[in-house]
Amino acid sequence: MKELNEFPIFPEDCASLLSKHLSRAVFAKLKNRQTANGFSLQQAINSGIQNPDSGIGIYAGDEESYTTFAGLFDPIIAEYHGFSKTDRHRSNLNPADLHAPNPDPENQYIVSTRIRVGRNIAGLPLGPAISTEQRNQLEQQVSAVLNGLQGKLAGSYYPLQGMGEKDRNQLIADHFLFKGGDRFLEAAGLNRDWPGGRGIYHNDEKTFLVWINEEDQLRIISMQMGGDINAVFTRLSRAVSEIESGVKFSFNDHLGYISSCPTNLGTAMRASVHIKLPKLSADMKTFKQIADQHHLQIRGIHGEHSESEGGIYDISNRRRLGVTEVECVQDMYDGVVALIAQEKLL
Ligand code: ADP
Ligand code: ARG
Repeated sequence: MKELNEFPIFPEDCASLLSKHLSRAVFAKLKNRQTANGFSLQQAINSGIQNPDSGIGIYAGDEESYTTFAGLFDPIIAEYHGFSKTDRHRSNLNPADLHAPNPDPENQYIVSTRIRVGRNIAGLPLGPAISTEQRNQLEQQVSAVLNGLQGKLAGSYYPLQGMGEKDRNQLIADHFLFKGGDRFLEAAGLNRDWPGGRGIYHNDEKTFLVWINEEDQLRIISMQMGGDINAVFTRLSRAVSEIESGVKFSFNDHLGYISSCPTNLGTAMRASVHIKLPKLSADMKTFKQIADQHHLQIRGIHGEHSESEGGIYDISNRRRLGVTEVECVQDMYDGVVALIAQEKLL
């Protein structure tokens, strides 16, 4: 990484929150600061500098980054989540509080449902600043906890190192495994030592999965075909609490669950459906309007930064901080109900 002594100049068309909130004054104040792990401003913003098409452009190296570089993180968090520096985050993973009967019981629109949360281990640096040794130890510790799960959550851990190319590609194509090679993560230092220390745990049915050491140290995932959102949330909620009895997650009352990217703070939850909306998607303006009204994000079929295929879209909650997990899923549910109603009208 080149030394960052001078204020970075972003291209004219750069629309990242980093470019918007990194003023010369903020830069001058923060440029020589470091966290106790030695994580610098330069490391935090390298991804946004190398990738001017970033939407956000900044990552944290540890929980302390959010206070050491608060002058930059706070306005970015405020703008993305609508959350102020005095707000408190609340968690609620109780399925009894969710009202989400299957919005598509005849399986006409929803292909599959997936809910994931990100988690990081208390007391360790986050992925951008973790050492090789710490990452490998974490993999051992977390995979041992996962290998102890029982019943429907019981499964096996598959390290990426040594996994055959064919198996890996199949898991990616089936939407179970992360892709690797992401240029945003690369510039954030999150791909160091790849594929060492990375892997995936899943049960036999592949309805419960855990990614280890990708963008966050754990991504806990519940997914299945169709639109039974309640079942997916209930499984996730149980899995999270069982894993939490074996490892301590990084959490504070202000920012909730700590994540490497500020978009994931709070619940670190993305609840999504893959949904067929052939008519509505022919009118992207209306599609986007309904999505915005319900705080939804539209992604392509192969995850973030991918395109739609066959009129199928990935629709998920956009807000994650200052709302509970139940509210995240409720956002997605209410929005999906509205999208299906509009599709039926057309
Ligand atoms: P993340 O959800 O972890 O932020 P991505 O957007 O990259 O990351 O998605 C990861 C993988 O999960 C991709 O293969 C994507 O297609 C898959 N996926 C996301 N939502 C669903 C869904 N509702 N059904 C099936 N697969 C999904
Ligand atoms: N750093 C990328 C950007 O700013 C991704 C941000 C949100 N996505 C994520 N996977 N954290 O566009």
